Amino acid sequence: MSVQMMDERTVTGLVSDATAAPSMHNAQPWLFRYAADTGTLTMSADPSRALPHEDPDGRGLRIGCGAALLNLRVALAHLGRSSETTLLPDPAAPSLLATVRIGSAATPGALADLYPAIRERHTSRFPFSEREIPTDLRNALGEAARLEGAELAFLSSPHLQAVLDLIRDGEGYNLMDPDRDAERARWTRNSRTDATTDGVPDYAFGPRKRGGTAPARDFAGLDVVRGRPTIDFEDRPQLALLSTAADGPADWLRAGQALERLLLVATRHGLTSSFATQALEWSDLRWLLRDPVSGSGHVQMILRLGYGPHGPRTQRRPVREVLTFAD
Ligand SMILES: Cc1cc2nc3c(=O)[nH]c(=O)nc-3n(C[C@H](O)[C@H](O)[C@H](O)COP(=O)(O)O)c2cc1C
Repeated sequence: MSVQMMDERTVTGLVSDATAAPSMHNAQPWLFRYAADTGTLTMSADPSRALPHEDPDGRGLRIGCGAALLNLRVALAHLGRSSETTLLPDPAAPSLLATVRIGSAATPGALADLYPAIRERHTSRFPFSEREIPTDLRNALGEAARLEGAELAFLSSPHLQAVLDLIRDGEGYNLMDPDRDAERARWTRNSRTDATTDGVPDYAFGPRKRGGTAPARDFAGLDVVRGRPTIDFEDRPQLALLSTAADGPADWLRAGQALERLLLVATRHGLTSSFATQALEWSDLRWLLRDPVSGSGHVQMILRLGYGPHGPRTQRRPVREVLTFAD
């Protein structure tokens, strides 16, 4: 692949697209470096943005970084550039997560079509309608995950009920764990008083849940947020599990790419999405999430998909804080 140099403005735009990705608690745990001589963008983990209590092995961190990597690939395809991605390129440097070598002109493919969805996708912590996602669309989401090396399975009872129970258990465990609760509080923001560019702002918490079985993570914890309504959520939530065959750092990065790819497809088709991953953050509960029949695969994400209000846009750190240029 012949190397193509890019100007600073183009690289900045690419990284801005990458960082529109979801990340656990909007911690944005990524750092990018562009080397013009090799035409390579490198993505590393930012250890200052780890969540040692809720994500001790950095699994969620790598899922968020994988999602950013997928956005980067989509943005490059949109620019008509080819790219070659290598995950974990240096075994001696585990926080070096990926390199993306940028090539010359390429024919835009399926990834380029997803570009508009990068800025339209937001997590929506609102009630969704009970309207069912058509089978064709479910299949398209499954295919998007498969193309990135993961499996997506929509849940039906009794597995759905078991997963809902495990999420509720996880939420309860979190509230009783002072370290985890402090971590949640550290990454939530009062939008009237905090002028920050990371964390989950109160305007994105969504309403407090009164009735309904749809799962949600309440970022307010036990705090009362002024003006926040309490309303019913849907009774038949459409939940899906994203799984990978193995469970190491490369699989977490693959799961992140699969997650973002399917979310972009979902967004393009008018779906909205949220997550409820509390049960994944406790190893005893995570194990029980697996499909009771096949028992295969390692669950990486719990998604809620459907038709409902779009979530609000949340802030990102300025690109200059996450991108450096090699001399
Ligand atoms: C690994 C991972 C786990 C997440 N877990 C949850 C969750 O349990 N509940 C939730 O509401 N959002 C969850 N999120 C979504 C983030 O909070 C969200 O991406 C972030 O606040 C940025 O907002 P945005 O998705 O609207 O851009 C998760 C995201 C990732 C990548």
